[in-house]
Amino acid sequence: MSDKYTLERITWVQTWVPGKLFSFRCTRAPGFRFAAGQFARLGVKPPGSDEIVWRAYSMVSSPYDEFLEFFSIVVEGGLFTSTLEHLEVGDTIYVDKSPYGFLTTERFAHGVETPRNLWMLSSGTGLAPFLSILGDLHVWEDYRQLIVVHSVRAPEELAYAETLRSYPEHPIFGEFCREEPNKFVYVPVVTRVAHPDCLNARITTLLDTGELERHVGTPLEPENNCVMLCGNPEMVTDLRSRLQDRGFRAPRRGRPGNLAVENYW
Ligand SMILES: Cc1cc2nc3c(=O)[nH]c(=O)nc-3n(C[C@H](O)[C@H](O)[C@H](O)COP(=O)(O)OP(=O)(O)OC[C@H]3O[C@@H](n4cnc5c(N)ncnc54)[C@H](O)[C@@H]3O)c2cc1C
Ligand SMILES: NC(=O)c1ccc[n+]([C@@H]2O[C@H](COP(=O)([O-])OP(=O)(O)OC[C@H]3O[C@@H](n4cnc5c(N)ncnc54)[C@H](OP(=O)(O)O)[C@@H]3O)[C@@H](O)[C@H]2O)c1
Repeated sequence: MSDKYTLERITWVQTWVPGKLFSFRCTRAPGFRFAAGQFARLGVKPPGSDEIVWRAYSMVSSPYDEFLEFFSIVVEGGLFTSTLEHLEVGDTIYVDKSPYGFLTTERFAHGVETPRNLWMLSSGTGLAPFLSILGDLHVWEDYRQLIVVHSVRAPEELAYAETLRSYPEHPIFGEFCREEPNKFVYVPVVTRVAHPDCLNARITTLLDTGELERHVGTPLEPENNCVMLCGNPEMVTDLRSRLQDRGFRAPRRGRPGNLAVENYW
């Protein structure tokens, strides 16, 4: 076995949209440590090939879980996902021994006196790191309000909606929601069809019109908010420029900021 990666066994697979979206779990090597929001490098060997194809995948599971969970798209003709989508329980996958990435709350200032809110804005599978972050107790303790916005084209792509809606009943995090009813806000966004339980415009538009802030009930100002963006690179670019116009800044030269981003392609 290599000193660069471990071979892990798939233990669970869940299909959200056949041929498009699924999640899976695999065993976790005891030495694989990561911060919530980081990503792993996963490897598969396409059928008939001896070469491992590697891709970045955000952990959905929290640093406390014994397993690793991932949320994946299936890209038509994609080298990695057209192999990954056929893996079943009992099959194996390569996992690089190092975690990567900076989409973590460690990048933001801690111990500030003003209680702050954490906005997590995502498109598609870009929701993944935010699920990991929500599994981290410190985040519930450190932030006044946690807001997750998940933008997808169609309602059936709102993976993990039940998990997100059930935080008020969660055995640990539910207590935070009972103390402060607006502690956690989940905003599902569907952009290609109208859906009554969701907002129905791109996150960029929802910011421009003020609808997102009105819906959440919290103004998005740089003084007492931190924002994370993840998913489609065009969405990330478009949102980042709007947030920079409002005064949000990425961490730089050791100075903590209030904006952190990750592009998926
Ligand atoms: C830091 C990081 C973290 C990532 N985490 C995840 C994750 O948690 N889940 C996940 O599904 N993917 C994630 N990705 C994307 C992933 O690494 C691969 O690109 C994806 O698995 C497709 O691989 P492929 O070889 O099948 O197609 P590729 O040849 O890699 O991609 C082909 C095209 O498919 C589209 N595409 C790729 N990934 C996505 C996606 N996730 N959603 C929508 N369109 C996409 C893009 O247009 C891309 O150019 C992440 C990427 C980065 C850089
Ligand atoms: N979802 C499908 O049914 C489908 C079908 C065929 C092929 N695909 C392929 O699968 C890949 C991924 O599709 P996906 O649906 O997961 O991801 P996606 O195209 O990134 O869409 C996810 C969400 O992000 C929004 N978005 C995209 N660009 C944005 C921007 N610049 N600013 C703000 N919001 C933005 C989309 O809104 P909009 O809806 O307004 O774009 C949608 O709500 C794409 O390459 C696509 O070609 C998807």
